[in-house]
Amino acid sequence: METREQFATKLGFILAAVGSAVGLGNIWRFSYVAGESGGATFLLIYVICIFLIGLPVLLAEFSIGRRGQSDVVGSFNNIAPGKPWVIAGILGVLTSFLILSFYGVIAGWVLYYFFSFVTGQAGGIEQEGYGEFFEAFIGGGLSPVIWQFIFMALVLGIVFFGVKKGIELSNKVFMPLLALILIFLAGYSLTLDGAGEGLAFLFSPDWTAFGDFNVWSAAIGQAFFTLSLGMGAMITYSSYLSKQAKLPSAAGGVVALDTLFAIVAGIVIFPAVFTFASVEPGDGPGLIFIALPEVFNLMGGGGVIFGIFFFFLVAIAALSSAISLLEVSVSYVMRQLNWNRRKATLLAGVAVTLFGVPSALSQGGPIPFDFLDLVDTVTDQYTLPLGGFIIALFVGWGWNKVDVLKETGLTDTTIGLIWIWFLRIIAPVGILLILIQNVISAITG
Ligand code: PHE
Repeated sequence: METREQFATKLGFILAAVGSAVGLGNIWRFSYVAGESGGATFLLIYVICIFLIGLPVLLAEFSIGRRGQSDVVGSFNNIAPGKPWVIAGILGVLTSFLILSFYGVIAGWVLYYFFSFVTGQAGGIEQEGYGEFFEAFIGGGLSPVIWQFIFMALVLGIVFFGVKKGIELSNKVFMPLLALILIFLAGYSLTLDGAGEGLAFLFSPDWTAFGDFNVWSAAIGQAFFTLSLGMGAMITYSSYLSKQAKLPSAAGGVVALDTLFAIVAGIVIFPAVFTFASVEPGDGPGLIFIALPEVFNLMGGGGVIFGIFFFFLVAIAALSSAISLLEVSVSYVMRQLNWNRRKATLLAGVAVTLFGVPSALSQGGPIPFDFLDLVDTVTDQYTLPLGGFIIALFVGWGWNKVDVLKETGLTDTTIGLIWIWFLRIIAPVGILLILIQNVISAITG
């Protein structure tokens, strides 16, 4: 048995947790889901879900991991041996596997765009021409698979060698750079013709849609996805944390940064969406890949540089998220089968990459059935919320209250009490209502 690794500092842990949270979810997924689900109404409900459900559950995961000091299954077993709560852990291993399978595909698209801007292929395309550019790529035979493999090889390599240090460093340098470039691009987007319409789309809610259950369902799924919740990534990471670190401030920091990234990304994208006739908010998963290159194109010569930097930094952000996804299975396999890190990484990594191939080939490629959408729907509408539901109930009811508050550093505080009651009532009831509705609408079509 190897001794468990640990984060050297609390900052190292926060960086890793932010690195896990901030990724394709904030830029690619947030913008396409917001675009499909009505913009501002979605954003408002999403923020409500983040604070009422996401933040409490994130803190719950931090507490479980730090107390459990094991992978997602082992942590439940350590805190509550022989109890059924561990189902959340098993579900988490499964869900992280499913998410990573298609995450690698989208990250492969990002790498392809980065590469195309470097080689000049993506520059100098006529205006409104990026829809075709994108479709030619995703429908172009094996190339999406090749880029998926390149990305997954990077993920495997990093997890294989366990270079946590490299990740901490890259998060320290590249995250702030990504923030800077997004803020700059947001400023540029505000000068576009579609800026007014784009901002109205993102910030002025249609109150009649507030009761639309589909928007709530999309928002809660996105909240879990973007905060890396409900499947044990945050449990796994916080299990590498020492006893001294304060959890509530870490959770607050992660939520604040993650939400800011998404909102700024929205300010970059929606003005662009309303500027170009060939782009619609409801364009789906291709949205940023069609809209953003148009913006870079409009910038003239400097745009290529922005294209290169932007896709490079998004790829790095995706890398740190993918690493946390793979780490869930790897740490589980390491303990369960008593394998070393390298063997576990190879097994889990190769399996998840192969499982992603049908997703890569079903976006206009040879597979007509939208496999990516299926895997995404299963995880974000069912397994993530279900995992979050069990986690909330476990920390709220299953685990001794005095212990929980002590672990979290919230003994005898009002915040601690409020938090516990959010986990007891608000989060589980909210999640349950949406889960039930999801099941009903899946059955009734
Ligand atoms: N939160 C990551 C993102 O927004 C994705 C992710 C989901 C990572 C679940 C880990 C676990 O890109």
